[in-house]
Amino acid sequence: PGLPPGPEPWPLVGNFGFALLPPPLLRRWAVEVRGGSRGCPAFSPHVFLTGLTKLYGGVFRLFVGSRPFIVLNTFEAVREALVQKAEVFSDRPSVPIVLIITRKKGIIFAPYGPVWKQQRKFSLSTLRHFGVGRLSLEPKIIEELKFIKEEMLKHGKDSFNPFPIIRNAVSNVICSMAFGRRFNYEDTEFKTMLKNMARALELSVNRYMILVNICPWLYYLPFGPFWELRKTELDITAFLKKIIAQHRDTLDAANPRDFIDMYFIHAEEEKNKESSFNEDYLFFIIGDLFIAGTDTTSNTLLWCLLYMSLYPEVQEKVHAEIEAVLGRDKVPSLTHKAQMPFTEATIMEVQRMTAVVPLSIPRMASETAVLQGYTIPKGSVIVPNLWSVHRDPNIWEKPDEFQPSRFLDENGQLIKKETFIPFGMGKRVCMGEQLAKMELFLIFASLMQSFTFLYPENAAKPSMDGRFGLTLAPCPFNIIALKR
Ligand code: HEM
Repeated sequence: PGLPPGPEPWPLVGNFGFALLPPPLLRRWAVEVRGGSRGCPAFSPHVFLTGLTKLYGGVFRLFVGSRPFIVLNTFEAVREALVQKAEVFSDRPSVPIVLIITRKKGIIFAPYGPVWKQQRKFSLSTLRHFGVGRLSLEPKIIEELKFIKEEMLKHGKDSFNPFPIIRNAVSNVICSMAFGRRFNYEDTEFKTMLKNMARALELSVNRYMILVNICPWLYYLPFGPFWELRKTELDITAFLKKIIAQHRDTLDAANPRDFIDMYFIHAEEEKNKESSFNEDYLFFIIGDLFIAGTDTTSNTLLWCLLYMSLYPEVQEKVHAEIEAVLGRDKVPSLTHKAQMPFTEATIMEVQRMTAVVPLSIPRMASETAVLQGYTIPKGSVIVPNLWSVHRDPNIWEKPDEFQPSRFLDENGQLIKKETFIPFGMGKRVCMGEQLAKMELFLIFASLMQSFTFLYPENAAKPSMDGRFGLTLAPCPFNIIALKR
């Protein structure tokens, strides 16, 4: 078998020569192929790649320079690669931009192998130690809700931008586990760090970054997006290194306060073995927890608020369920989840529609292998298009319609669907899935218990394709939170 089909590449740049087009031309071109983005400034690669199914089928290849990028648009292809052939497709790409930024450390971009395995296992068990998946984390999340609600109440009946409030709150949940403390929403250092993280994510998938994979030295240009990314990276590094050093200097091994302390203790225990646990690696792990844990969960919550304000009839049903199970005063807990299938189905439907990590995190073929009947050469980058799977009309009836009831059976009970994969699949499935699910349920249920969300009457409706920056953020919007 040969390579999957795909468009003819240009010399040197491959199929991404279009990344060099000026934005208006690029948008026109994208809109002609499929929908493109309306109203939102960014080009939508997930929508664009999904549209290419019509031309090339569910598995096709593009070239970045001479390296094949294999896009998987169907569930069968994603499952075959990530689950059935996990031994071949669990590596991460060793392309220049990834090597430069992550140095292949941490968890997200670590090569598939023993170091990744040890670090992931330790991180998962430490997150569990701090209450992930158990009731003991609930008070920390509920405590954060007090601050979100206070902020929202300040706006009364006026519309406001919900992005900073939600992002601060979600980030604080990670802060409390990683650093043992939360930050005040007005804290300038904290605000700058969050802004930097969001910007770094956006810049790292900036279309010009594709060029770094072809000419790595471009990254060191003293101007433009490369320069901005390097500066943001330095600021984030300074912030995290300061906190790690403070922990090292005040560590009491008998009373670990948080993730960082636990890591130092473990590194000390492993000191005499050949071990990957050290302060340098810790820095990348903490960075990963923030990068992976903040934008994903906060964007999902923002999408939830946006959908509620645009679909008042769904919002009413969620309110009715909350009224019946929690009333006005009971604090939501994971123990209520089983009694609240409609609320749960609503969160799942938002996750289906928006696939917040739409192109997942790229994988790499560590060997030449056959996938869906095609040959995938060793070193190819694999792009599982989760957005496409979630919008596939062969799987979902009317996939572009927002219908939480698709996740419920005729008795109103939740149905699990294997094709619902917002957290990816296989050995590298999201490490924070349990934490994210806890946060989504508790924060969404609690906000819905306290507020009715309205879309401002005179405001234009935002594009629902979102803004792609590795994660998919809703396009900017304001909202009204009416106290119930
Ligand atoms: C990986 C989605 C929240 C930590 C991933 C992947 C996806 C994803 C699609 C790629 C999986 C793959 O390669 O197959 C999401 C979504 C979230 C979320 C939709 C929220 C709604 C979180 C949180 C954390 C986290 C809160 C923090 C603990 C990670 C890590 C990885 C990962 C460390 C890399 C795993 C590895 O390479 O072994 N996530 N994530 N995620 N996520 Fe999440």
